[in-house]
Amino acid sequence: MTSLNGQVALVTGGARGIGRGIALALAHAGANVAIADLEHIASTAQQYTSATIGGFTEAQKTVAEITALGRRAIAIQADVRQKADNERMVQETIDGLGGLHILVCNAGVVSVSPVETMNEEMWDVTFAVNVKGVFLSCQAAIPKLKAQGKGCIINIASIAGKNGSAGLAHYCASKFAVVGFSNSLAKELAATNVRVNAICPGILRTQMWEYLADTLKRSSESKEDAWQRYIKGMIPLGRPQTPDDIGQLAVYLAAAENVTGQAINVDGGIEMH
Ligand SMILES: NC(=O)c1ccc[n+]([C@@H]2O[C@H](COP(=O)([O-])OP(=O)(O)OC[C@H]3O[C@@H](n4cnc5c(N)ncnc54)[C@H](O)[C@@H]3O)[C@@H](O)[C@H]2O)c1
Repeated sequence: MTSLNGQVALVTGGARGIGRGIALALAHAGANVAIADLEHIASTAQQYTSATIGGFTEAQKTVAEITALGRRAIAIQADVRQKADNERMVQETIDGLGGLHILVCNAGVVSVSPVETMNEEMWDVTFAVNVKGVFLSCQAAIPKLKAQGKGCIINIASIAGKNGSAGLAHYCASKFAVVGFSNSLAKELAATNVRVNAICPGILRTQMWEYLADTLKRSSESKEDAWQRYIKGMIPLGRPQTPDDIGQLAVYLAAAENVTGQAINVDGGIEMH
């Protein structure tokens, strides 16, 4: 079994959903984990709202779960859109847990709109969290990772970073950007032994898909029927993915010393490239 004993991970958006699954999997493999999330996101009509409230409270619950495994864990309140928050989050991880070896940029938001009627705010919020947030988190961690001559960055992209979707042009563009950014950063940092990879999850019923199933359901359809339609219609293996599926790949990537610059799908076969 892969051992990450003695390593410290920082997971953004790690309070719940995929980030929580990654944090728990890394902790099971031996890592101590800092979880960064935010309590309140500026509420707009265009992004999912109540569900993004309470991230720091949820982060503290995930910290308790990790502590119960015998690992050390801390919760940090941070908004990945803010440069100063990213710098503080990295410093609090180093101060609180004694280092930083694995950075997981997972925080993300989604919303749905055709391009023709999409307002600029929807575009800007999506790119601020999903793209600028990844850039700023990486930028804050790079000096520490480079200085120790070893480190691993895992950016959570999506199958939406491999193929477009109607109504999700802004989200898909943001996830294509995460893949391109990760690929470029992998080349930039390879000589310093800092590896950068992306994970492209498929469909997981986190709060993100609770929102999507509600938003994308047809007028004659229940939310549950819409969910089943997407699962059966899109996923060759016919079943949704789980946060632990994504966590297992994160554990692998954290330890895979010869893997960098990859964008790996965990999607039951939706995308095969
Ligand atoms: N659920 C899916 O099917 C799916 C599929 C592919 C990719 N993804 C990606 O996986 C990642 C996690 O998604 P999830 O499904 O677990 O969603 P989620 O909504 O359950 O979790 C996202 C977390 O990010 C936090 N967050 C949002 N904005 C933030 C900010 N500005 N600063 C700090 N934290 C912030 C939220 O509070 C929340 O805890 C996202 O990047 C998402 O785009 C999800």
